Amino acid sequence: TTTTTTATAGHQNWSSRWAFVLAATGSAVGLGNIWKFPYITGENGGGAFVLVYLLCIAAVGLPILIAEIMLGRKGAKSPIASMRDLISKHNASSGWVSIGAIGTLAAFLILSFYSVIGGWAINYVGYTVSGDFIGKDGDAVGGIFGAMLADPSSLLFWHSVFMALTLFIVARGVKGGLEKAVTWLMPALFALLIVMVIYAMTTTGFAQGVSFLLTPDFSKLTQEGVLKALGHAFFTLSLGTGVMMAYGSYLNHDVSIGRTSITVGLMDTVVALVAGLAIFPIVFANGMEPGAGPGLIFVSLPLAFGSMSLGTIIGTLFFVLLVFAALTSAISLLEPSVEWLEERSGFNRVTATLVAGGAVWFLGIATVLSLNLWSDVHPLGMIPAFEGKTIFDLLDYVTANIMLPLAGLLAALYVGWVMKKEEVAEELSLANGPMTLFWNVTRYITPAAVIIVFMNSIGLLG
Ligand code: PFF
Ligand code: NA
Repeated sequence: TTTTTTATAGHQNWSSRWAFVLAATGSAVGLGNIWKFPYITGENGGGAFVLVYLLCIAAVGLPILIAEIMLGRKGAKSPIASMRDLISKHNASSGWVSIGAIGTLAAFLILSFYSVIGGWAINYVGYTVSGDFIGKDGDAVGGIFGAMLADPSSLLFWHSVFMALTLFIVARGVKGGLEKAVTWLMPALFALLIVMVIYAMTTTGFAQGVSFLLTPDFSKLTQEGVLKALGHAFFTLSLGTGVMMAYGSYLNHDVSIGRTSITVGLMDTVVALVAGLAIFPIVFANGMEPGAGPGLIFVSLPLAFGSMSLGTIIGTLFFVLLVFAALTSAISLLEPSVEWLEERSGFNRVTATLVAGGAVWFLGIATVLSLNLWSDVHPLGMIPAFEGKTIFDLLDYVTANIMLPLAGLLAALYVGWVMKKEEVAEELSLANGPMTLFWNVTRYITPAAVIIVFMNSIGLLG
């Protein structure tokens, strides 16, 4: 029996670290890497933006990822309830509950437009499987994308399908199946991205694409670009939403949070960079605009699928995997609201999922209409920073660039200034050297970086 116990314990430990890495990676890797990273890099001039983004991941994203997972594991409840417990334990102000509250609201808002984009991806499975892009040029492929955006009922339909899939998974709580799916899905998605990079190497735009992505031209970097790089570092790692806290609450105490966070952060970063390497060469080879905006991957990749051999199979697989990657992020985005509703209202899991999901679906209609009938509606247009922004643009901008960094900043401040160094060192089980580094970064560098970027962007507002 001794042997059995040891073996079981060993297996459990391994499997729980692995399960956590999968869930956290599933949340992190999604539309943010493959849809958003390339297009905002394109809009913000390329290399210099990428460099600032990588700095933000290292100096801000990673420390906050560690901080949030640690807070979640210590609290061992939903983000809001965990913060309540920690606050009373540390005798701190109840204002720190906002770490959980801002995050829960932000995740809710993000899912409303994330699901609309997820719907595009489902729709594109249909286009690729029926060979709609074969032999088409840039204008024709762009035309298909434009026609999709112009049709509110079709956008609403695919948004509804995406939300229904999300709700089905969250309500059933099919953790096991999902974990298994992520185990083969992430490597498969990655392999297909590599296939796309190899294809991109055969195009005439490869050198230009690589240099656009990797050669920093600081004259193209604006203050707003820096804010967006910071915001995207939060978005892509699912920070400032309570998601990593919620997932951390299921984490075993013998798992190294530092190593685990580095794994998740690295995988997320590599997927984004490889996506950029796959997309920009195709963009340049076809004389497209890198700053084309949210449609970038929905035009450049189909163009490649339409002209490469096996393009129908590879294209279909690609969009299927993109949908899965989006779903594993979407379920994490719904989780904080569902947990909160369960705690607050006493709804059971299924009811809470339907209520939260129904509300997200309804709000998603505003994003659907922003793309066509309401494309000239700019609710906060009188504020210079929000000029010309549709409701969809605002939801994206305010969550990624304001709410997530704010909630993440508070999490870093809580760990660095409310908790005692000994308590943090013990929870992270770090040796002196790494602990001193983590401590100084979390206390000073991370908050200073977020505050400086915020102050600059308020300067923009004035
Ligand atoms: N990190 C996801 C992505 O890059 O697609 C998006 C996301 C998921 C953001 C969960 C925030 C979150 F809480
Ligand atoms: Na991501």
